[in-house]
Amino acid sequence: MDLAALNKVATAMTQPGKGLLAADESSGTIKKRFDAIGVESTEENRRDYREFLFRTEPAMKDRISGVILYDETIRQKAADGTPLVKIIEAAGSIPGIKVDAGAKPLAFCPGETITEGLDGLRDRLIEYRELGAKFCKWRAVIDIGDGIPSHDAINSNAHALARYAALCQEQQLVPIVEPEVLMDGDHTIERCEAVTMWTLKTVFMELYYAKVQLEGMVLKPNMIVPGKKCATQASDAEIAERTISVLKDCVPSAVPGIAFLSGGQEDVEATARLDAMNRIGGFPWHLTFSYGRALQHAPQVAWSGKKDNVPAAQAAFSHRAEMNGLATLGEWTEAIEKKAA
Ligand code: 13P
Repeated sequence: MDLAALNKVATAMTQPGKGLLAADESSGTIKKRFDAIGVESTEENRRDYREFLFRTEPAMKDRISGVILYDETIRQKAADGTPLVKIIEAAGSIPGIKVDAGAKPLAFCPGETITEGLDGLRDRLIEYRELGAKFCKWRAVIDIGDGIPSHDAINSNAHALARYAALCQEQQLVPIVEPEVLMDGDHTIERCEAVTMWTLKTVFMELYYAKVQLEGMVLKPNMIVPGKKCATQASDAEIAERTISVLKDCVPSAVPGIAFLSGGQEDVEATARLDAMNRIGGFPWHLTFSYGRALQHAPQVAWSGKKDNVPAAQAAFSHRAEMNGLATLGEWTEAIEKKAA
């Protein structure tokens, strides 16, 4: 393993002013997104959609440090025959790949899941590296509810994340370690804080046992937010303060960068909160975005499957990428958001 080279990629992925586009929706998830805009989820439609995202200027060059792809997409060619990976690289962005096989029911833990995909992973990593991937993603899901999460769910998922991350580094790929504490449900912000802290402490202990080198990874956590159905919601400032405080407590300074998931937050909320955190400052990592929905919702609605709408959809994507890029610098404002919209 060349740790300096891994660190270089992890640092480039989380460089100030840029962030990651999570375009790694599984076939099931992209179908849900397409259903919402009345588009049939065919291989061609999925390709056309992702191709226009990856060709968007100036967003890809200026604001998107890397793109997380799905197995189908990393093998796909654009309409003119150019591999989609090459289009991403031509924009100066780094291609990566989701390698987990999804969250499956965890035995004897009703309502909880374990992320699968470790069997045969080494061979798949070798193939993905040959296809151009420089980093990988594995998402573990921790749900909050009555009597959950259980120790078993947190420990099993943290252990799987660590085994995945070690295999990635062995194969000279940067692992994005994503333990997502869900914001579904009616739990309080304090509960999210306690469960996220428990999860992150366990994850970093397992990473240590698995000999994962923190300089060569990126953490992808949730922000500390109340459940969507919680009666008491929180200000962006409170969310930013609590999130920074938990991260300072749990994430060693050897980790070069932290890239948040959006997890169902509204587009502008996800931007405002990232901006609020970067305005606080005083932490050792770069804080950026690795958004799926918060970057793609607007372009999906603008596109709605119509060729004529592609320029408007690209403009919508560029706008969100620009706003989130500013947020990584603590330079986003509501006035800029409205003026540029
Ligand atoms: P969201 O930003 O939509 O949560 O997606 C990010 C992601 O990659 C989840 O694994």
